[in-house]
Amino acid sequence: MDHYFTNNENLKSEIKTISYEYNEYSFSFFSDNGIFSKNHIDYGSRLLLETFLQNAHPTGKVLDVGCGYGFMGIVIAKILNVPVTMIDVNKRAVHLAKRNIIAMKVNAEAFISNSYENIRDKYDVIITNPPVRAGKNVLLDILQNAKDHLNEEGQLWYVLRKDQGAKSMEKLLESVYKVENICKSKGFYVYLCKKC
Ligand SMILES: C[S@@+](CC[C@H](N)C(=O)[O-])C[C@H]1O[C@@H](n2cnc3c(N)ncnc32)[C@H](O)[C@@H]1O
Repeated sequence: MDHYFTNNENLKSEIKTISYEYNEYSFSFFSDNGIFSKNHIDYGSRLLLETFLQNAHPTGKVLDVGCGYGFMGIVIAKILNVPVTMIDVNKRAVHLAKRNIIAMKVNAEAFISNSYENIRDKYDVIITNPPVRAGKNVLLDILQNAKDHLNEEGQLWYVLRKDQGAKSMEKLLESVYKVENICKSKGFYVYLCKKC
């Protein structure tokens, strides 16, 4: 079975649109088969994004790891007016993210990267709804190694479900970051991590 992060060139394309509104802002995203949450905005992503918008005030660069079609990164670039880099291992997701960046005229870029493989810069914020189904090693790679791509005062924001091991991941990350649970809703936990 293909996962949402598997590149399958033969998968039929069926472009659709997903709408999102936040305060006075309206967004319309192109989506397609073969990507995560292709028909609607994922509840965890929405919770993470809106918690971030209400609590963080970045003035510098933001990195969205596992960006999918670009939901979180594009909304952040538009509303907070900061430069955003978006990466994903899924080619179709990156293609859609690029298309959505152009359609929504935001200061953002999207490119393929397996975890931080193609990342050279450092960021004020790394935000991720991480690919749980890719397995614990990928999850740990994305969350633990974020510290190497953050500025000194940088912040990692992520969401995990309680039944996907949110509590045990929190414990693991406490050796690397000061970890704070900012919000809980419907079994989803949003975390803010700062370097120790
Ligand atoms: C839970 S989805 C979130 C997607 C998107 N941020 C959203 O909110 O709709 C996780 C994303 O991580 C991507 N991904 C999986 N493994 C990855 C890896 N090793 N490096 C980068 N991205 C990866 C998947 O393709 C998927 O788009």
